[in-house]
Amino acid sequence: GKGIAVFTSGGDSQGMNAAVRAVVRFGIYLGCKVYFIKEGYQGMVDGGDNIEEANWSSVSCIIHKGGTVIGSARCKDFRERAGRLKAAKNLVMKGITNLVVIGGDGSLTGANLFRQEWGSLLDELLQTDQITKEDRAKYSHLHIAGMVGSIDNDFCGTDMTIGTDSALHRIIEAIDAIAATAYSHQRTFIMEVMGRHCGYLALVAALTSEADIVFIPEWPPSADWPAKMCKKLQQERAAGQRLNIIIVSEGAIDRDGQPITAEKVKEVVVEKLNQDTRITVLGHVQRGGSPSAFDRVLGCRMGAEAVMALMEATPETEACVVSLDGNQAVRLPLMECVERTKAVAKAMADKNWDLAVQLRGRS
Ligand code: F6P
Repeated sequence: GKGIAVFTSGGDSQGMNAAVRAVVRFGIYLGCKVYFIKEGYQGMVDGGDNIEEANWSSVSCIIHKGGTVIGSARCKDFRERAGRLKAAKNLVMKGITNLVVIGGDGSLTGANLFRQEWGSLLDELLQTDQITKEDRAKYSHLHIAGMVGSIDNDFCGTDMTIGTDSALHRIIEAIDAIAATAYSHQRTFIMEVMGRHCGYLALVAALTSEADIVFIPEWPPSADWPAKMCKKLQQERAAGQRLNIIIVSEGAIDRDGQPITAEKVKEVVVEKLNQDTRITVLGHVQRGGSPSAFDRVLGCRMGAEAVMALMEATPETEACVVSLDGNQAVRLPLMECVERTKAVAKAMADKNWDLAVQLRGRS
């Protein structure tokens, strides 16, 4: 059977374990030898015990766990050719020519580069007598299938990344809890949520928790936002509301590109309205806890589809990313999605927010 390895890379997210489990079990079911690569790309470079054959029971009892049981890392060595050369040798030694990578855009880009370089890496290994001529011929193509694991939902091409739904559950549970105490003391709470440069978590959290105001990077307000915000907060209080909730995405900015931080918002509320105000920064709680049913199913479906993609790959097949389109698992060219995701980052940096939002949408 084919040699497949699965690894998780970059920031962890809930549902990654479901994806790993699906890859292992579906791979074994189809007669493949399936390996874990532990600690992401670092494990691939270091080899040894980091690359371990999986069996049916080695993925038992993980579907309900948050994080990733096989570890994840942000790896410097793999960015250098010397690191990738070591990684290639480690894979060839185990007969692995199929990789399933679960991570964000950086991790997926790395995988694609590795695939493009594969032939020349093998040539170098042969020239330096690290592999045999037979190995060079037998393992001449590397196939890649990616899945996007991230709480941020910041990847172009998929409607939902694995982990976003669970993070939202964590966030709205926290907001509901805060709202109860805010109500009792007639307070204003400012909640900072994650998402890096993507406001998805903040926006959906605000919509589903009846927040009064939300600040997100894709919709920066003009510099007079403090006055507008205060007017809205006052209106709500005048209408009998006992509390105010303001959601601030960690990447929020104003039209001039100035960060809108929870501290800044608090300063304004206290100074202009003299409201009793507190800040809650949710932090990594959002990335922990058990995955939601949605993320478990998403991980399972994506994992199975990734294995199918590898089974059907020919030497000409480009690297793909398994994505959710409506309710369908689809395969998209990995590099096109990565390029579009990069174009979003550029549009945001250029302050062309409309273009960024347009690019994020479906093509
Ligand atoms: O990409 C996931 C994420 O949790 C972001 O929302 C956040 O900005 C970042 O990772 C935090 O990174 P770290 O875990 O390295 O502190």
